[in-house]
Amino acid sequence: MGKIGLVGVLVALAMGAGAELCAQSHPASATQPAAWLLRGPYVQWDSATSRRILVKPAKGAAKLKVRYGPAEAKADGGSLVTMEGDPRSGIFRAVLKNLQPGREYRYRVEAGGQVGDWSPFLMPPGAQSKQPLRFAVYGDSHENVKVHVPLSRAMAREPGLAFVCHVGDLVGKANEASYDRGFFTQARPLLRRAMLLPVVGNHDTYGPDKGDLLPRLFDLPAPGRRYWSVDLGPVHLVGLDCFDPARRGNPFSPDAKQGQWLRKDLAAAKEQTWKVVLLHEPPLSAGRRGLAKRRRLIEDLCEALEGFGVDICFAGDQHMYNRTHPVGSEGKPSPVYVTTGGGGGYSSRLVSGDPKLPPNLRGGDSFHAMMRYIYHYCLVEVSGQTMTVTAKTIKGQPADRFTITKGRAPKKTFSREAALKEIEARATKP
Ligand SMILES: [Fe+2]
Repeated sequence: MGKIGLVGVLVALAMGAGAELCAQSHPASATQPAAWLLRGPYVQWDSATSRRILVKPAKGAAKLKVRYGPAEAKADGGSLVTMEGDPRSGIFRAVLKNLQPGREYRYRVEAGGQVGDWSPFLMPPGAQSKQPLRFAVYGDSHENVKVHVPLSRAMAREPGLAFVCHVGDLVGKANEASYDRGFFTQARPLLRRAMLLPVVGNHDTYGPDKGDLLPRLFDLPAPGRRYWSVDLGPVHLVGLDCFDPARRGNPFSPDAKQGQWLRKDLAAAKEQTWKVVLLHEPPLSAGRRGLAKRRRLIEDLCEALEGFGVDICFAGDQHMYNRTHPVGSEGKPSPVYVTTGGGGGYSSRLVSGDPKLPPNLRGGDSFHAMMRYIYHYCLVEVSGQTMTVTAKTIKGQPADRFTITKGRAPKKTFSREAALKEIEARATKP
C-alpha cells in the first residue's frame, strides 16, 4: 500500500552513497558501513544454537572471516570462522555455533588487514526460562529514510532485544538496489545486532522476482520458502505469505498447501507457551478495501488461529497502528489482531497528522480497542504467563500498551461473526 515519496527516494539514494563514500576515509562505525562491505553485516537464523552473519563485500575484498565470542570478553580474541561466498548472490555467510540460550555474544567481520566494529547480539532465553524475552515488530518501511532511519535506531537502542520482525513492504519496488539503499543501509545499526525475520508484503512482490528476492536476501527459517515457523524462547513464531503464487487469493483455506501446512505446524507446536503469527494483510483492521479477500482471511485464517490457540497476530499493509479486542468464536481462544504498518509508508492521515477516527469508529461498539495514526514499532515483552505489547513512536515514547495473561479471561472479547458483519456493513456504505 502507498507510494514512496520522491524526496524520500532521493534522500535515501544520497544517504546510501554518502555513507559509503564517507567510509572510504573514516573507520567503520555502527551507522556507516565499511567501504569493503556493500551490505551488512546482518544477523540471520541458522538453528536454536547458532546464528549466521551475512555480508555482501565490495569487489576485491578477500579472506572474509568472522570473529566472535561472549559479549563480556575484553580482549580482541574469540573464535574465528571463515565466511563462505555464494557466487550467484555475492553474499558471504559465516555460521556462529554453540551459542547458549539467553546469553549475549559479540562479533566482528575481518577481511585481510581490514577489521570491522564489534557488534553485540542476544540469543533468546530457553523455552521454560524465567528470563524475559524482548522482540520488536514493525512493517511498511517503504524506503522512507526520514522515518525508517530514526525508527530502526530507536529499536536498536532497546535493551535486551533478541530479534525483530517485519510484516512486509520493506521497500517500494522489489529490486536489489532498493533493498540495499532503502532497507539495509537505513536499518544498519538494527540489523547488525538483531536477527530480522520478515514476511512478504505486496510491494516486495513488485519486481522481476515477484517476491522471491526476499528469501534470497534473508536466510528465513524455511530455506527456499516464503512462509516459515521458528521457536524462539517461549514463542512459536509463524511467518505467512499472503501472496503465495501457489494459491493466489486464498492461501490459508484448509485445502490450500500453505493452509494445510499452517494447521499442521500450529497443531505440532506444544512446547512454547506463546503462539505469534505474522503476515502482511490484516484480517481484522479498519481499512475499507478488499472486502472479498478480507472475508476469506477472516473465515479461513482466523478460524485456524482460533482453533490452534494463537495468542496474537501482527500484520501491516495499512499505514497506521490499530489493535482489536480479543476476537474469537464460541468456546475457542480469541487472538488479538494488531496492525503495525507505521514504519514509513505513506498515509494521508499520517502526513496531515489528522487524529480523527473514521466515522464508524467514533463512539459505539467495535472490535477495535485502539487506533492511532502514528509512525511506530511494537515492542513485545514476554515473561512467563504474561505478554506485554507497547506501541512506541519514533522517539521511543509509548503510544499504546496492552497485556495478555495466560489463564486469565480478557475483560472484553468480540465475536468474529459480529466483526465480519461490521466490516461488511462498512464496506457497503457509500
Ligand atoms: Fe505498505
